[in-house]
Amino acid sequence: MLSEVLLVSAPGKVILHGEHAVVHGKVALAVALNLRTFLRLQPHSSGKVDLNLPNIGIKRAWDVARLQLLDTSFLAPEALSPTCVCLFACGTEQGDVTAPTPEQVEKLKEVAGLPDDCAVTERLAVLAFLYLYLSIFWKQRWTKEDLELINKWAFQGERVIHGNPSGVDNAVSTWGGALRYQQGKISSLKRPPALQILLTNTKVPRSTKALVAGVRNRLLKFPEIVAPLLTSIDAISLECERVLGEMGEAPALEQYLVLEELIDMNQHHLNALGVGHVSLDQLCQVTRAHGLHSKLTGAGGGGCGITLLKPGLEQPEVEATKQALTNCGFDCWETSIGAPGVSVHSATSLDSRVRQALDGL
Ligand code: PMV
Repeated sequence: MLSEVLLVSAPGKVILHGEHAVVHGKVALAVALNLRTFLRLQPHSSGKVDLNLPNIGIKRAWDVARLQLLDTSFLAPEALSPTCVCLFACGTEQGDVTAPTPEQVEKLKEVAGLPDDCAVTERLAVLAFLYLYLSIFWKQRWTKEDLELINKWAFQGERVIHGNPSGVDNAVSTWGGALRYQQGKISSLKRPPALQILLTNTKVPRSTKALVAGVRNRLLKFPEIVAPLLTSIDAISLECERVLGEMGEAPALEQYLVLEELIDMNQHHLNALGVGHVSLDQLCQVTRAHGLHSKLTGAGGGGCGITLLKPGLEQPEVEATKQALTNCGFDCWETSIGAPGVSVHSATSLDSRVRQALDGL
């Protein structure tokens, strides 16, 4: 199937506004980050498929023959053809993206053979990999149709991880840039400004599935209270979109001040939805002490937060903020928004540090 090394990368992403509300049909604004995850697919003749995820300490190998056996029972009967040599190709060639069934996920758990003490996030990463590996036929060049397919499969990977995703995460990682997303409808923001941000990982583990369910329960319990919060978050996303559209190439300080106010209001709303966490409060307080505004991004309950860096901020001040966040035990990266989506690379086009890291695996 794969005759030579394939190098692929996808951007990290953050949701600027609209997390959780997007699950309930509201608008979300999401941006791709200039922090990328690289993937090297390399053919070898050991008869095994090796998965190495160095950042989360996963190194596993499975017999291809065993996976192919599983594959025959894995795919829906109508997708099987007696002459189909490569069953991996079936789904994709027919443009048929299938959602993982609970039975398939159970079967994958058996095959994954992960130790009982394997953390949930690592377990889900492996299950999503196996599901997609068993379903996707790799190509070397991507057309718009291929990207649409990648987006659909990435959505199914998200379903393995958290059941009922809105689709915003896979969309922004596939297409890159800055997107407005509502109920599967995606549009790119025209000329978004190159905002600088801090992305901070509190390292507090959380379950997106449980947090999304928590918001749903709160909405059912207090519809009169929670529905207006979701409507207000929707309005924040729309106002942010409007301001970003006006900022263009020469943003004014007043526009940054509006973005900061929107960040603060949304952070309070997210707390009211019950998806805050003490670590996120700490993140907001620490950055506030340096005159900067932050909010959680994504599911909350721990996880990551974003901090807007205003223009004119001196680098020592940025470094001092990063140090203060690191002192809390958090990981912190300074980056910019609006990166390209999923991409194929030739080895020579890669940054030498990335090449070295991949070669060292
Ligand atoms: O934390 P993440 O990256 O899984 O983002 C979740 C975003 C939610 O809006 C909470 C859920 C979704 O599917 O959109």
